[in-house]
Amino acid sequence: MLARNPYRGKYIVFEGIDGSGKDTQISLLEPFLIERDIRYVRTSEPTTYLPTGLLIKALLRGRYGFDPRSTALLFLADSHEHLRTRVVPNLGRGRWVLSSRSFLSTLAYQMVLGVEEEFLEDIMSRLDFLLPDLVVLLDVDPETALARKGKERVKQMYEDVEFLASVRERYLEISKEYDVVKVIDGERDPFDIQEEVRELVKDLMDIPRA
Ligand SMILES: Nc1ncnc2c1ncn2[C@@H]1O[C@H](COP(=O)(O)OP(=O)(O)OP(=O)(O)O)[C@@H](O)[C@H]1O
Ligand SMILES: [Mg+2]
Repeated sequence: MLARNPYRGKYIVFEGIDGSGKDTQISLLEPFLIERDIRYVRTSEPTTYLPTGLLIKALLRGRYGFDPRSTALLFLADSHEHLRTRVVPNLGRGRWVLSSRSFLSTLAYQMVLGVEEEFLEDIMSRLDFLLPDLVVLLDVDPETALARKGKERVKQMYEDVEFLASVRERYLEISKEYDVVKVIDGERDPFDIQEEVRELVKDLMDIPRA
């Protein structure tokens, strides 16, 4: 069990396979919050400001043949430090936190690599992982998602169609266990997707839906 957010700020997470449009949707949501004078911070996992995040980056670029549980522990450590040092302090000050990825990525990706759900959820609950107020899962076909990302980038360990197809299935399965996860068809026009995102965000603000 993850802990419900007891703070004033709302914690909103965008999830989906690589190239599903998480950062695009966060960028489109920003003006909506600014117009309403909602103070927020934008962040992502794996982190880019902690050594654990750098280790993950190196791990994904190489082929070290790590035991899947060691990899999972590294992601869990990075996530835990991210929650402690960035997410919780901002929520505590009443700021909203918009994050690309969170515990749901760790579950979906690491389970596909063979780690048991109980192993992951047990550590998450022992570390008091925070349940977001809203998780928007952008559901996209891996072929579409990878095509969006283009060819210029160095291919990382997780960027493979079959692998991402399994991650997509996992995401959809796990999302049934968490009522805060809302699945959105991410293959449409970014602005149409954003309209749906804003309806979900309004539910957190006690603003009536359009
Ligand atoms: N709904 C959409 N339709 C078409 N293209 C899109 C859509 N959303 C995003 N894109 C494009 O797809 C690419 C990837 O989008 P984005 O960076 O938002 O994905 P991401 O989920 O953050 O990816 P990553 O997991 O790699 O961080 C970008 O070039 C973006 O402009
Ligand atoms: Mg991104």
